Amino acid sequence: MTTPPDNAASLAEARFAALLDAAVDAILVISDSGRIETFNRAAEALFGYSADEIRGKNVSVLMPEPYRSEHDGYIKRYLETGEKKIIGIGREASARQKNGDFFPIDLSVGEIRHAGERRFVGIIRDISERKENARMIRQQQERLEHVMRLGTLGEMAAGIAHEINQPLTAISTYAQAAKRLINSGQLDDERLLEILDKTGTQAERAGQVIRRIRNLARKRPAKRERHDIHTVVEEVIHLAEVDTHLHNVSLEQHLPGSLPLAWIDPVQIQQVVLNLIRNAIETSPGANHVVVSAYKRNKEEVVIDVSDDGPGIQPDLLSEIFNPFFTTKEQGTGMGLSISRSIVTSHGGRLEARNNETGGATFSVVLPTAVSKKND
Ligand SMILES: Nc1ncnc2c1ncn2[C@@H]1O[C@H](COP(=O)(O)OP(=O)(O)O)[C@@H](O)[C@H]1O
Ligand SMILES: [Mg+2]
Repeated sequence: MTTPPDNAASLAEARFAALLDAAVDAILVISDSGRIETFNRAAEALFGYSADEIRGKNVSVLMPEPYRSEHDGYIKRYLETGEKKIIGIGREASARQKNGDFFPIDLSVGEIRHAGERRFVGIIRDISERKENARMIRQQQERLEHVMRLGTLGEMAAGIAHEINQPLTAISTYAQAAKRLINSGQLDDERLLEILDKTGTQAERAGQVIRRIRNLARKRPAKRERHDIHTVVEEVIHLAEVDTHLHNVSLEQHLPGSLPLAWIDPVQIQQVVLNLIRNAIETSPGANHVVVSAYKRNKEEVVIDVSDDGPGIQPDLLSEIFNPFFTTKEQGTGMGLSISRSIVTSHGGRLEARNNETGGATFSVVLPTAVSKKND
């Protein structure tokens, strides 16, 4: 005759087994030495091991390096110090299947203390699909940004041609001057060197325009680096001058000598600032004066402001202008501000718009400084 406690125990066990096997997530229980004791059905399907073949093995076989080699140390340290690095916290991690393939997971870990023994339970969810979707969205976004950059450069083509033509014309003039000097028979080395120097400077100037354009036109995956905001803004101002010259708009810059570093993709941020400057130029009636200033707002934030003296934004449109396809221009795409905002947001920052008291509008790109950036 079985005693009631045994019955209760076996019922509890049966319930536990049924629960484990009904779970969609992989669940495993390991001992305090890292040996696998329980491996549910979902875990079998996910990792490709049967419970029978994996029971008793070290859980580290389910991990890629360096965790694989270090896992025993993690448990040991926890048992010694009680310092929780993952228990009750959970995190994204990478797991290893029997066939050696790796896949991304959400991992949460709990602790079981019973009769003086400790065990750990791990709940694992395969997040490959979520990661893949996120990657595809990111890729589409990058493509869209690239197409928009090319579109902007296309719209700037007339200005760009003008900006390159000027140094080319100068080079040709200097070449003729040098030829005349040689033909005159009064070859003055100093004068000739001066002409060659000037020619070099002009070629350099044309080269700079082309370099900036190529940099923006390049198809490239977004990449964040610690960057000096000063250089990024200075570069984009040079590029925008192509447009301001053409439209007779004066472009003023206020860039303090020292600005905090920010964790940014410089091309993306240039794209944003270029969009804002071009919007300022394109207002109707057009702005005469555009001011780009960058400053440190506090320890955590660095700001790039683009202000104009155009007509400003109608107050009831202030929130709408960031919507995709919203435009008040005949030839507008309405995508500039929407893409700019998503770029800035993906940097952990904000893109804000307001009307100036003295007329015109100011757009602020607020970015977290590299100091305030904790982890990525
Ligand atoms: N500096 C500005 N001053 C006034 N209105 C602006 C300014 N910048 C943007 N806007 C408004 O926001 C709208 C959306 O801008 P954007 O997303 O860049 O698209 P697009 O430039 O193609 O119209 C513009 O059509 C305009 O109405
Ligand atoms: Mg625009």
